[in-house]
Amino acid sequence: MSIALTGATGFLGLRLLRSLLERHGSLTLLTHAASGDALARITRFLEVTGAPERLIAELPTRVRVVPTDLSRPRMGLTAARFGELANALDAIWHSAGSINLEGDLASLRRVNVEGTRTVLELAAAGTRRPVIHHVSTAFVAGARREGVVYEDELDDTHGFENAYEQSKYEAETLVHAWSRTHRRPVVVLRPSILVTNLPPDPDLPRHPLQVMDQLVRDALRATGLADAHRARPDLPVARLVGRRYGHLNMLPVEDAARQMVRLAEREPSGRVDTYHIVHEHDVPVVAVTELMERLAPLRTRLVEKRPDDVSALEAAMDFYPGITPYLSHLRRYDSTRVRTVLGAPRTVTRVDVDYLLSGIRPTRPAPPAVAPAEARP
Ligand SMILES: NC(=O)c1ccc[n+]([C@@H]2O[C@H](COP(=O)([O-])OP(=O)(O)OC[C@H]3O[C@@H](n4cnc5c(N)ncnc54)[C@H](OP(=O)(O)O)[C@@H]3O)[C@@H](O)[C@H]2O)c1
Repeated sequence: MSIALTGATGFLGLRLLRSLLERHGSLTLLTHAASGDALARITRFLEVTGAPERLIAELPTRVRVVPTDLSRPRMGLTAARFGELANALDAIWHSAGSINLEGDLASLRRVNVEGTRTVLELAAAGTRRPVIHHVSTAFVAGARREGVVYEDELDDTHGFENAYEQSKYEAETLVHAWSRTHRRPVVVLRPSILVTNLPPDPDLPRHPLQVMDQLVRDALRATGLADAHRARPDLPVARLVGRRYGHLNMLPVEDAARQMVRLAEREPSGRVDTYHIVHEHDVPVVAVTELMERLAPLRTRLVEKRPDDVSALEAAMDFYPGITPYLSHLRRYDSTRVRTVLGAPRTVTRVDVDYLLSGIRPTRPAPPAVAPAEARP
């Protein structure tokens, strides 16, 4: 079976690559030409995550790297090369995209919508009628904050929290139209927020919670409060619009990749099969605010509406419109289809504040619980 993967150098794509290589002998990687040596970055990921030496050594012979630009017609390939590639494939995994939550709609559409269109064109051109595995997001549900979101649902009646969500929604509608027109199967995989407890590494892709950490630190620096705790014992308070009983779904990225690859073993129905790739337990919003407090010298308070007397710190934190609305989310994702195919999760990784913290800041050794014997009086 000949498989292509886009986005193999990304936070999720790296784990998909690893899971796919556990089941398939070789892969074609449609990498991002503009970002340079994909193979070196993938090798680095495998080293950091302790992959078997044999896999690392075999990598150059097991993957074929095709540098592309998904936002350009035919991925930036010549017509002949595009046709040759299309005719060689049985399946295409499309994980490339822009996850910039503060990006503008035009730039996000170029990668997320036009990139998906190009992948669909590649699949349409292939004589072997490759199956597409399209990585979407649970956040195509948009600004709907309550209730249960079902895997079959796709509508824009609630609007969107940010342009990222809208671009991913538009990409999914494109997938549905393509499947109807071409009478071809597509598997749509909708992960929730993907997280890791792997400590950050400058050579590895950043993930959404690292961006949140950056937001808080930037806000403190911009308002001159970064060192406030050193000057005075009382920490600055940031009132954030959010719900005390709100919750968000966060899934370890490794679990997400494994679930997706297992779902791909099922014969597709012939239409669009959509799966919510989610954790069975949500993370309370208060855990997210606790995380902020452990990352930065501040205290948070959830409030119902934006105060009239917004402080400089609060204004700076609210500047990042992509993230703060999620503190008001109470919705849940139904994943009956996933459970029907895969059964109950074999292992459930607990996603709590300590887990999330490990994936954002290098772990510092905890101070000793008791003073060393020689220091005692
Ligand atoms: N991360 C999450 O929490 C999350 C949650 C739900 C859904 N998703 C979805 O999962 C998918 C992967 O996300 P991720 O977290 O892996 O994102 P990421 O770390 O930002 O990776 C994005 C990937 O897309 C590639 N790419 C970007 N622009 C490209 C272009 N013009 N042409 C070709 N390749 C391009 C990047 O290549 P370079 O890095 O080499 O430039 C990278 O491999 C996305 O579709 C995203 O919407 C992610």
